[in-house]
Amino acid sequence: MSATLDHLFDRNVAWANRKTREDPHYFHRMAEQQTPHYLWIGCSDSRVTANSVLGLDPGEIFVHRNIANVVHTSDMNILSVLEFAVDQLKIEHVIVCGHYGCSGVSRAIAGERGAMLDHWLLPISMFYRKHRATFDAIADPTERINRMCEINVEMQVRRLAATPIVENAWARGQSLHLHGCIYAIDDGLMRDLGPHLSSVEMRERLPSIDQRVFQPVEAQSSMRQQAIAAFGAIDPAALEAPACCTRDHDLGG
Ligand code: CO
Repeated sequence: MSATLDHLFDRNVAWANRKTREDPHYFHRMAEQQTPHYLWIGCSDSRVTANSVLGLDPGEIFVHRNIANVVHTSDMNILSVLEFAVDQLKIEHVIVCGHYGCSGVSRAIAGERGAMLDHWLLPISMFYRKHRATFDAIADPTERINRMCEINVEMQVRRLAATPIVENAWARGQSLHLHGCIYAIDDGLMRDLGPHLSSVEMRERLPSIDQRVFQPVEAQSSMRQQAIAAFGAIDPAALEAPACCTRDHDLGG
């Protein structure tokens, strides 16, 4: 690979030209103040980019990413992003989006101890150790990691909900909703996982996170939700005697 970034600068010019051709006011509009409605807290994984996954333009989503989408409540970076998003941008939806097959989560489970990263991942590895017997009972290692990826999302939504930034916003009556989601790289679909929290009361009503290990939440993509809704809308009465199968139409008599 070349020692310079010329190839990237060339791509940048091509992109800016294409954007301007498609919409001559695009960059003028972008230069005005940003008014995103969403804050995305996701993994640094290069395949999980908020804007592409959600099909959003620049300016529509405020983004914070780190390895394994961990909310450390002493991390100045995430707290500054959260505070700015909530207090200044008045963002209404904060989305913690994990992803299946996360190598950060996988490393936490493997119990690696050789890098700074292992300090970062400690909340995940500690949770895994606490429930090791249950996790290790899942025979398929991929499934085991994916279960932990799901629980990690919920853990981080709960941590967000415990920050004074979020509590203060709720206390002053600001509309602020926290959501847990998970993305699958192999089908491109984001799945709803929860929890969905809009108040301290909702947070307090949550069962212990330890219970999630025994009672997993089913992650549902929008396609699956639509299929379930469509199935539910079918009138069972109409299914009882479909014309094709009634006795009158039965040639056998
Ligand atoms: Co990841």
